[in-house]
Amino acid sequence: MPAELVPRRPWRGRRILLGVTGSIAAYKSVQLARDLTRLGAVVDVVLTEAAQKFVAPLSFEGVTGRRALTDLFSAEGAALHVKLGQEVDVVCVAPATADFLARAAQGRADDLLCTTLLATRAPVVVCPAMNDRMFAHPQVQENLARLRDGLGYRIAGPARGALAAGESAGHGGSGGVGDSEGPGRMLEPAGIEQHIGRALGAEAAFVGRTVLVTAGPTREAFDPVRYIGNRSSGRMGYAVAQAAWRRGADVTLVSGPSSLEAPVGVHMLNVETAEEMHAAVAQHIGAADLTVFAAAVADYRPSEARLEKVKRRQAGDDLSVALESNPDIAESTVRARKPGGVAVGFALETSDLVANAAKKLEAKSFDLVVANDATEAGAGFEVATNRVTILSRGAPPEALPLLSKDEVSEEILDRAGRVLQARLAESPR
Ligand code: CTP
Repeated sequence: MPAELVPRRPWRGRRILLGVTGSIAAYKSVQLARDLTRLGAVVDVVLTEAAQKFVAPLSFEGVTGRRALTDLFSAEGAALHVKLGQEVDVVCVAPATADFLARAAQGRADDLLCTTLLATRAPVVVCPAMNDRMFAHPQVQENLARLRDGLGYRIAGPARGALAAGESAGHGGSGGVGDSEGPGRMLEPAGIEQHIGRALGAEAAFVGRTVLVTAGPTREAFDPVRYIGNRSSGRMGYAVAQAAWRRGADVTLVSGPSSLEAPVGVHMLNVETAEEMHAAVAQHIGAADLTVFAAAVADYRPSEARLEKVKRRQAGDDLSVALESNPDIAESTVRARKPGGVAVGFALETSDLVANAAKKLEAKSFDLVVANDATEAGAGFEVATNRVTILSRGAPPEALPLLSKDEVSEEILDRAGRVLQARLAESPR
């Protein structure tokens, strides 16, 4: 099983009710149900009558291993909505059509899905999907506002981008098939999973807190086409940023060049050089309750960034590049940290792992240091797994087993959350 689909927090063992309404985007919900199941959740699917015109209950049963539900008036249906509503940890309606939004905003109870919504007190995530002109209509916006502000439902999406043919053409919206100027397209399953994760994963240490994360490599220009960099992919920092958002934090991610997709819900600041990363961190660290320095910052940059490409003929056989040092971002921003703010650093070593990491804990005033050995298989750059040892103040180093980077980020945040809570108990803010 790919590392990203191994059962994980916060989905593992949780009960999810997936409501599917009548939109062409319903085909994506089959994938969503499958992925949630593979993440370890128990997924019950309720389809409206209109949903069944697009996708069959059997498709969901095949991926969840559970009977899909359709009928309020079946022998079991009458009691089912109350039972389901009470048992589930989260309800997600994806896709949510304009008609569903209207009925939910009114509190109708004329099908199994809407009735279950009235019977539950679990968080509700709604993922609209419709033609972009319909979505922009004041009536739809009013219904959404009622669900969001009046009932506390979480509205996830919609996104801009190509609409499915049926949405554009079928509702006679913006003209040609597939063109969309405004939002209307349902979020992709991977994005919806994260919104469900945030509804399930809220944690007192993180809700309403501000988290700053650095990630990825930096690139230090040597000439207009070449740079000095390193093999960091950004995976570790992106995983930490996403996990902190799922726990309820407001997250800013300062990222060097990375091919990864931006984490859902996270405020991205894309930078290239160590100096740019330094400036971005200096600007935001004063507001951060927790800062995680996961970036592999280049310690040196070419002293001179040439304006013209260096020609081989001119440079000759031996070319030396003079380097000068970059700022140490973590160390130089210690005084700018928010009072009581928690700082987590990384230490990438090739020898004397714990001793070297302990020096960084002190030198950079970190509360925790996540140390890993760059020479070990399955750890470090360009892989989805990591084996880390976590150092903290006043406790022996903790060597963790080989874990996915997602699991490592949860372990880091568990510990950072405890430090945050302890600080809060010392001096409530
Ligand atoms: N770091 C930083 N700014 C730098 C270098 C490192 O903020 N210019 C941060 C990293 O993000 C990491 C920690 O400091 O959290 C340690 O980084 P690492 O590369 O392991 O060590 P260095 O401090 O660069 O020391 P050395 O290269 O000598 O091991």
